[in-house]
Amino acid sequence: MCGIVGYIGKRNALPIVVEGLKRLEYRGYDSCGVASLFHGELSVEKMAGKVVGLQSLLAKKRDNPIIAIGHTRWATHGIPDKTNAHPHLSQSGEFAIVHNGIIENYRVLKKGLEDNGYVFSSQTDTEVIVALIQTLYKGNLEDAVGNALKHVTGAYGIAVMTKHEPHKIVCARRGAPLVMGIGTDEYFVASDVAAIIQHTKQVIYLDDGELGILTSDGVETLACDRESISKDIQHLTFDVEAIEKSGYEHFMLKEIFQQPQTAFDSMRGRLNVKDGSAHLGGINDHIGSILHADQRYITACGTSWHSALIGEMMIEQFARLPAEVEYASEFRYREPLVDNRSVIFAISQSGETADTLSAIEEGKSRGATTLGIVNVVGSSIARATDAGVYIHAGPEIGVASTKAFTSQVAVMSLLTLKLARLMGMSKKDGIEIVEAMQRVPEQIESVLNQSDVIAEIARTYSKASNFLYLGRGVNFPVALEGALKMKEISYIHAEGYPAAEMKHGPIALIDEKMPIIMIAPKDKTYAKVMGNIEELKARKGRVIAIATEGDKEIAKIADHTIYVPATLAFTAPMVNVIPLQLLAYYIAVEKGCNVDQPRNLAKSVTVE
Ligand code: G6P
Repeated sequence: MCGIVGYIGKRNALPIVVEGLKRLEYRGYDSCGVASLFHGELSVEKMAGKVVGLQSLLAKKRDNPIIAIGHTRWATHGIPDKTNAHPHLSQSGEFAIVHNGIIENYRVLKKGLEDNGYVFSSQTDTEVIVALIQTLYKGNLEDAVGNALKHVTGAYGIAVMTKHEPHKIVCARRGAPLVMGIGTDEYFVASDVAAIIQHTKQVIYLDDGELGILTSDGVETLACDRESISKDIQHLTFDVEAIEKSGYEHFMLKEIFQQPQTAFDSMRGRLNVKDGSAHLGGINDHIGSILHADQRYITACGTSWHSALIGEMMIEQFARLPAEVEYASEFRYREPLVDNRSVIFAISQSGETADTLSAIEEGKSRGATTLGIVNVVGSSIARATDAGVYIHAGPEIGVASTKAFTSQVAVMSLLTLKLARLMGMSKKDGIEIVEAMQRVPEQIESVLNQSDVIAEIARTYSKASNFLYLGRGVNFPVALEGALKMKEISYIHAEGYPAAEMKHGPIALIDEKMPIIMIAPKDKTYAKVMGNIEELKARKGRVIAIATEGDKEIAKIADHTIYVPATLAFTAPMVNVIPLQLLAYYIAVEKGCNVDQPRNLAKSVTVE
């Protein structure tokens, strides 16, 4: 979604800000712009479209500003055109703002300002903030920003500059992430560390209600009463290579191929081989609450919701504890049965998804214990929850989530194992599971080695208009995830179903044009799934089977067979999802789609 980058220092700010915006492109956006201050004058360049266009616009400029703020916008209020693109200048041209989030009361504020003669030039909610700042400015930018924000309800991360104080950027956050970077004689602000990691690894995360001030001499954080507060400087642990393609054609392909390593990293130091159990330090103090809770909810959106479904199935099957999965967007508004004897797990790659954050707030307001399963360290969900587990997948740049999914499932498996052992699973069974989990990275590797076979199948079906994905047990959420990947990046309609449910409706769709991905490992439902394949073939469906290595029977009836290593049900999703990711990827490439930045999608959706 929207991205913010700001710079103040000694170098030309424009290329630094533009480069930062490029690093944020993966989040999804439709217009972009930059404001800079040069010889006491504010100037803005903005446009609909991609940062590369902005770069050409700026190439014509002779200015060498040392202070600038930039933005990538994902339209909410007003179409994605030049007028609505950020930065927005105040009517007087003295103030410039970039904003992420949504101002909920902007209509009322706009009406009040218009009644007093203010003339707006865009349809955005953002413009009311800069209008208020202009109206309230009395010689000190942080005071004007702080006072303006008192009138505002909603979510924001903002950065503001004024020609009256040409060596200052003021930023503020409520509900949308913002981080300040500390370099040598230069300072940065960004909505995502990816924008600044190539310049500095020393950062300060702003918390809700705080203001940050960046000058050429340093950074300062203020509480909402504008008292200076001291904040810890955090050291980022990843390098710029982690957010580069490293020779792969797309970030998504790189991230698919990273999974042997990232799955390993999620489990590193967390498996107890001797005891057949798992260790999750982040939630150790809450294990008692989880075991004795009246309700256990797992809430999430998108791909993370599929990991939640797998978690629910595993916790119930192996730990014999009831759990319930909720779409985060639905949770808040359906008066959930939550109280201080409830535990809510929130799964999120980005840690910034507004729906998931709201679900957490809802749970907290009812007294529940909230636990995060998050990838991005220091993210809003990581900080809003009582405790949690990081999945350690490293930065995920491709909008369609891949490695975060396998790592989320790895952590849900570790959690299940930990709970199951406490609930009476035998040590012997626990050790068997630990050993199976240790084999996962090499099993993923062996599926990746068949990428050529999968690319060939992709070529055969790239013109299909629909796909059906079928699986049973833990492979049903895997089918859902496969269908979501196909929709997200290739724009082909795809649906996931429990394999046997197929005969209660979807079977009406089957003809020779319908490819069906059937996840059919040799597990306890294998015979039934084979029956389903026969039913599909009898109706001329084109079956692509995901089958266990050595299964020759299935190859006789399926049109294509992709082999995966034999796994326990416990580890199956992490391995069986790999061919589905690759299939979606190769079909999207075949169709010429923008794999890393699919249309209309955003990497983290920070609006409800
Ligand atoms: C967006 C992304 C999805 C992602 C979902 C949840 O819709 O496009 O790929 O699965 O958000 O994101 P989260 O960061 O909370 O896991």
